[in-house]
Amino acid sequence: MEDEYHRSDLFSLLDLSIEFCGVKFDSPFVLAASPSTDDESMVARGFDYGWAGAVLKTTSVEGQDVSLAYPMISGYHFARRKLVGMGNIDLISRHHILEVEKRVISLKKRYPNKVVVGSIMGSRKDDWQILTERLEGAGADMIECSFSCPQGSIGEQSGRMLGQSVEASRMVAEWVKEAARHIPVMIKITPQVADIIAVANVLREAGADAITASNTLPSLMGIDLDSFIPFPNVGGKSTYSGLSGPAIKPLTLRTIAEIARNVDIPISGTGGASTWRDAVEFMAVGAGIVQYCTAVMRYGFGIIDDLKSGLSQFLLRKGFNSPKEITGKALPYIVDHEELPRIKARSRIDQDSCLKCNLCFTACRDGGHEAIEVTADRLPHVDDEKCVGCGLCKVVCPIENCITMKIIE
Ligand SMILES: Cc1cc2nc3c(=O)[nH]c(=O)nc-3n(C[C@H](O)[C@H](O)[C@H](O)COP(=O)(O)O)c2cc1C
Repeated sequence: MEDEYHRSDLFSLLDLSIEFCGVKFDSPFVLAASPSTDDESMVARGFDYGWAGAVLKTTSVEGQDVSLAYPMISGYHFARRKLVGMGNIDLISRHHILEVEKRVISLKKRYPNKVVVGSIMGSRKDDWQILTERLEGAGADMIECSFSCPQGSIGEQSGRMLGQSVEASRMVAEWVKEAARHIPVMIKITPQVADIIAVANVLREAGADAITASNTLPSLMGIDLDSFIPFPNVGGKSTYSGLSGPAIKPLTLRTIAEIARNVDIPISGTGGASTWRDAVEFMAVGAGIVQYCTAVMRYGFGIIDDLKSGLSQFLLRKGFNSPKEITGKALPYIVDHEELPRIKARSRIDQDSCLKCNLCFTACRDGGHEAIEVTADRLPHVDDEKCVGCGLCKVVCPIENCITMKIIE
């Protein structure tokens, strides 16, 4: 089915546009606040490549000290896979509002149909409100408030994120909503809280138009075992990084789902999306649009072609007319643990596709239920009496569909 469609045909066949908080995006794919959106020339290139919108790197009021430390990026590599996750000790933009508002004016003039989102962070009420008013005045389509910078929040208690306080989140969201006259306000939260539903609820009560869920996660990226200095090594010292990229995708999915299941508010998904499939998954658990950062920093703006063609083919295959139809599709299937049906399943190994690597045998023997036996020819066999159907053998098997879980009751 997929092969029947050529990419050029796909774009003419399908309209990927979506309305989010009353703002029209020509697709759900948006550049997240990051170094990729810190300069006009880069945002313009992103738009030329076909991104629907960009959240500009977070700006602040004039006089706000933004003291950056370099090198700021480190990688989390695992089992010879580069950049399973990426850590950064970046802060907000070194460009203050005066520069950013000029950038917004220019970008909106050059790209009237692209969505320009101004991202802000302040410490006092005045800061938040001035930033909002100036960005709206410059023509920004939306405001995103960073409540979740994990590298020490400017003007707040060091190391603590604004989004970690329910009451501070309510107060600042109200300030920004008071200042925004016509444009929607999104609040970018942190998943690093005990009760994400409480945060989402107060933001909705405060009048926020949407939640951006979520952001990087506070992390320590690894230790150099020669010097014992953690990464990144900044002149012999290190600090906690914000972890982004594929490693955090499952956490983001849970955060989006938890908000979508409990609070009626539009969600912009960010945190670990690299492919069109990731976007579909974010939308399936409740996101309306999806923001990309690490994948763009690694592979460039050109990934938008794959995102659009992949989403188009998916919509055609599923018979959907718009990306909007994906939003929330997975939610009816997410329940609390006690509501899960108690089924009886057993592992089934397809002997014809088995590589005889015996990974399933070792995993089951030492981490499962000693339910797999290996015959003299190295073929694994499941003992149904011992197998409980946990699924460990299936996840360690390197061959797709060689091991399946068969429901027996
Ligand atoms: C180097 C770097 C700088 C970032 N700067 C900002 C920022 O200024 N404001 C903000 O809200 N988020 C910032 N982020 C967070 C991203 O917007 C994004 O939410 C996060 O990286 C998770 O998405 P990803 O896994 O697609 O990278 C930054 C991320 C990185 C990697």
